[in-house]
Amino acid sequence: MTSQANRVMALSEWEDRWHEGRTGFHQPHVHKLLENNLDKVLCDRKDVRFFFPLCGKAVDMKWLVDKGHSVVGVEISEKAIKQFFEEHEVAYAEETVSAIPGAKVFKSSDGKISMYQCDLYKFSSEVAGQFGAIWDRGSLVAINPCDRPRYAALIASLMDKNCKYLLDTLLYNPELYSGPPFFVSDEDVKNLFGPSCDIQLLEETDAFQERHKQWGLDSLTEKVHLLSPKAN
Ligand SMILES: C[S@@+](CC[C@H](N)C(=O)[O-])C[C@H]1O[C@@H](n2cnc3c(N)ncnc32)[C@H](O)[C@@H]1O
Repeated sequence: MTSQANRVMALSEWEDRWHEGRTGFHQPHVHKLLENNLDKVLCDRKDVRFFFPLCGKAVDMKWLVDKGHSVVGVEISEKAIKQFFEEHEVAYAEETVSAIPGAKVFKSSDGKISMYQCDLYKFSSEVAGQFGAIWDRGSLVAINPCDRPRYAALIASLMDKNCKYLLDTLLYNPELYSGPPFFVSDEDVKNLFGPSCDIQLLEETDAFQERHKQWGLDSLTEKVHLLSPKAN
């Protein structure tokens, strides 16, 4: 573990970020690493159910639905969820979730998109089953480092036996910036998911931008890994 190991962000801090518009992580375009590697996730499958942990209002969700897939996301910020539906002009309805006290689910009228507004750790396969694919961008890198083991256990429990889990990580010098996003090494990925999944590094790219200079960084590498449940 690095100097970031003890950094903890409360859920209310994320909600504040959405209320104050401090959402520099949101990208207005489809993520390049998802686009580049979608074939390896789909493996010729049609109508795949995707899970988006910590979904924000990622435009990738709408892009996948337009390609014939369906999406379930989990996000603590109601504001983010409502912005998603409004910005994409998708009609939706809001319901309570009997399995999770205090949670709500926002569902598109065609049933292709469901976004659960709750703490991720209250979500489980009992709420919405298992998934054929997972797109993890801004999620493992955003959770508190101390929560990684329970995050990995939850994600593993949400994967069906043919699931393809596309995991995006960020590497930089953690002595220079406290996060989030947090530094996640290849070793971390192996330790967290190696016992349950086969792991393949698909692509890495220089993701350093002007805004990262304000974080005190001088380099930032983004990697995307493809994880598949180990055959029993
Ligand atoms: C870094 S953002 C990434 C959002 C999205 N994946 C994207 O790529 O734009 C992390 C998101 O997770 C939400 N979040 C953080 N911790 C959460 C938790 N424990 N449960 C549910 N949502 C959470 C935040 O409100 C924020 O929208």
